[in-house]
Amino acid sequence: MGKIILTGDRPTGKLHVGHYVGSLRERVRLQNEGNFDKIYIMIADAQALTDNAEHPEKVRDNIIEVALDYLACGIDPEKSTIFIQSMVSELTELTFYYMNLVTVSRAQRNPTVKTEIKMRNFEANIPVGFLVYPISQAADITAFKATTVPVGEDQKPMLEQCREIVHKFNSLYGETLVEPNILLPKNSACLRLPGIDGKAKMSKSLGNCIYLSDEPDAVKKKIMSMFTDPNHLRVEDPGETENNPVFIYLDAFCRDEHFAQFLPEYQNLDELKAHYQRGGLGDVKVKKFLNNVLQSELEPIRNRRKEWEKRTSDVYEFLKQGTIEAKKVAAETLNDVRNALKINYFD
Ligand code: TRP
Repeated sequence: MGKIILTGDRPTGKLHVGHYVGSLRERVRLQNEGNFDKIYIMIADAQALTDNAEHPEKVRDNIIEVALDYLACGIDPEKSTIFIQSMVSELTELTFYYMNLVTVSRAQRNPTVKTEIKMRNFEANIPVGFLVYPISQAADITAFKATTVPVGEDQKPMLEQCREIVHKFNSLYGETLVEPNILLPKNSACLRLPGIDGKAKMSKSLGNCIYLSDEPDAVKKKIMSMFTDPNHLRVEDPGETENNPVFIYLDAFCRDEHFAQFLPEYQNLDELKAHYQRGGLGDVKVKKFLNNVLQSELEPIRNRRKEWEKRTSDVYEFLKQGTIEAKKVAAETLNDVRNALKINYFD
C-alpha cells in the first residue's frame, strides 16, 4: 500500500494567506519532497453547494480562481492530480452507503459543523446536505485510499468522523477502506491565522483577509491598518507579542534571512519580540518589516498567477485530465465497496 495524499478546498472565493500557511505551503513542500506515491487535490464544489444551493454561480465561478491559486502557489499538475469533486460521481454513491453508518445525532455533534451552523444562522433550517457533508468528505478521502490528509486545524473533526466510518465499514463488511491520518502544520501560528482585524479567523465573510492575488499596494494598506496590542500606545510602552496579529503573522512567515535582508539591526524574531516586549519599538516599524516579508513571499505567487491567467484553457485541460484520472481511481474503490457489501449483483 502506498503513501497517498488527498486534500482540497471549497471554491467559494479566492484563497488567502491563511489558506497558504495553513495548508497550501505544506502541500507544495510535500509535493516537491517526493515522498508520496500520489497526491490528489480536489476542488470541493459539491461540498460548497451544501450551503450555497441558491448561488451555484458563486461556486462555479470560483473553481478557476482556486485552480489558479493552486498553480500560483506551486502545485504542479505533473506531480499532483487536481480534480473537480462533482465530476467524480462515484463520490456521491460512496457517500450514500456511508450515510447508513452514521447516526443523525453523531452528524449533529461534529464541532466544526456546529460552529458553521451558528455562523450561517441556519437554526432550524439546516440543509440535510450540509449536515452530512462530513460523510461526503469521508467518501472523498477513502475513495483515493488516502493515508495522509494535510489540512487546517478546523478539519480535525472531519478526519475523526472519517476514521469512525472506516472502522465501522471494515468491521461490518471486512477490511476494505484505509484509515487516514491528519497532517497539521507544525508551526502553531499557521494553525489558525487571525484576520487583520485580530478576529480569530481569516474569513471572506468577515472581510479581514489578505488574498494571495492582492496587489502590492492592497497588501501594504491591509498590513498598515492591522490590529496590534491595543495597550501599546506610545513607542516607549512595553508591548505584547502573544496575541498580537502582527507578530503571529511574523511567526507564520518570517525567516532569519528576512532580517538580514530587511531589518539587519536584529538577528531574528526572538530579538525583535524581546525589544517590543520591553518597550521602545513602534508598531509602524514592525508593520513595515512584516510588509517587506509578506511582499517578498507573495510576489512570486502573484506573478505565477498572472502567467496562468493567460492560459485558462490549459488550466481547464489540467482539471479535465485530473478528473478523468480521479474518476478511474474512485471507481475502483467503489467497486471494492460494492463487493464488500455484496451488492455487485451482476458480477
Ligand atoms: N472541508 C474542506 C474545506 O472546507 C474541503 C474538503 C472537502 C476536503 N473534502 C475534503 C479537505 C477532503 C480534505 C479532504 O476546505
